[in-house]
Amino acid sequence: MVQRTLSILKPDATDRNITGEINSMIEAAGFRIVAQKRILITLDQARKFYEVHKERPFYGDLCAFLSSAPSVVQVLEKENAVDDYRTLMGTTNPASAEEGTIRKKFALSIDKNSVHGSDAPENAAIEIRFFFSETEIVG
Ligand code: RTP
Ligand code: MG
Repeated sequence: MVQRTLSILKPDATDRNITGEINSMIEAAGFRIVAQKRILITLDQARKFYEVHKERPFYGDLCAFLSSAPSVVQVLEKENAVDDYRTLMGTTNPASAEEGTIRKKFALSIDKNSVHGSDAPENAAIEIRFFFSETEIVG
């Protein structure tokens, strides 16, 4: 089934000017980038976006990082997009990421791990609505 997922190219990626290289990997893996914009996520938005992690010790640093510099938020479309993008991203900690994944190639650390991807279809729908209106998504 064709699915959509929410991807974020995080501040460490915009900072190193590698968003194009990451997009090349995304497109080569068969995803269509059906919406995309470069934005500065505010601290309030980051707190809301990562609310599920609010009790975790890394929550403050995570939100500060996400709002520290521009991000590229995007909607990716493909068969099985949610799980397949998680596979393309690689594990949260790049030290254990597989060869050929975005995080293996580009992530600097578990914090500066270059990309976000939705972890379930229902969360993808919520996360896409968080950043995009329906008219901004052109499939
Ligand atoms: P993301 O949400 O960014 O796609 O990453 P993820 O699903 O692979 O990982 P998640 O568990 O949702 O964690 C969100 C972000 O929090 C940071 N984190 N730090 N220090 C730690 O133990 C730790 N665990 C997670 C990571 O930057 C992760 O991307
Ligand atoms: Mg996550």
